[in-house]
Amino acid sequence: MKHLIDIQNLTIEEIDELIEVARDIIKHKEKYAHKCDGKKIATLFFEPSTRTRLSFEAAMLELGGSVLGFSEAASSSSAKGESVSDTIRVVGAYSDIIAMRHPKEGAPLVASLKSIVPIINAGDGGHNHPTQTLTDLLTIKCEKGRLDNLTIGLCGDLMFGRTVHSLITAMIRYPNIKFVLISPKELMIPEYIKKDVLEKNKIEYCETTDIEEYIDKLDILYMTRVQKERFFNEDDYVRLKDYYILNKEKLKNAKEDLCIMHPLPRVNEISTDVDDDKRACYFKQAEYGKYIRMALILKMLGVK
Ligand code: CP
Repeated sequence: MKHLIDIQNLTIEEIDELIEVARDIIKHKEKYAHKCDGKKIATLFFEPSTRTRLSFEAAMLELGGSVLGFSEAASSSSAKGESVSDTIRVVGAYSDIIAMRHPKEGAPLVASLKSIVPIINAGDGGHNHPTQTLTDLLTIKCEKGRLDNLTIGLCGDLMFGRTVHSLITAMIRYPNIKFVLISPKELMIPEYIKKDVLEKNKIEYCETTDIEEYIDKLDILYMTRVQKERFFNEDDYVRLKDYYILNKEKLKNAKEDLCIMHPLPRVNEISTDVDDDKRACYFKQAEYGKYIRMALILKMLGVK
């Protein structure tokens, strides 16, 4: 695998292999401590991040490698007008692999066309976030014990939430997956996901604005933040930002083994009184992100 731009760059077999390696890393961390001695990852973040950037860096450090990069466009020469392609050509001379986040959809794909080292898309606009999807799949596998036969509720900003788009695209490849799409009317899932992904593949789904309507049917409830940075109009954001606030009361009819996920950062969409509920998996999910990124770095650098 040369680059990871879209979750569809990975076959289901490759995803399953990454998950198995990540689970082995969790069990036998010491075995992997020197796998990337002498290797460097560059993290080029043109947009803010906590989890993705730091988990990539922690992943490489735990593999024995080292890290370089920048955490905001303003501290790179893109602020002087340098193109993404030029930045990538240069950074390829300083590193063995690059993880890149950019607000423009397609920027990591453009970068990959010029890069001499593997590029990982660490999130591009409202489009795709494949390593979050790998994190989510590892979380589901570890917490539910399976990736098939699941009813998944996706709640919040389904229009701009790139993690949701990637997760749907990945999960439809497993048998008997159903979706409950919970969003305000203004933030419903894009038509192309409904037509080209769900309906084309005959995936069962329903849409609702009410988080409690199907909560008793869900195996997974995946909450998302309203994506302030993708709104054109501040008034719309203010009106919609607190549309869903998951709390203990709303969970009263949920299954005992529901898995509550959130890619984080959270704003108000999950009340902190849920954090101590045994079904809350979102902080574990952030930790799983480091292990799956370790597995991905090993795969992309061809380390056995
Ligand atoms: N989940 C996620 O992408 O978080 P960050 O924006 O903090 O990287």
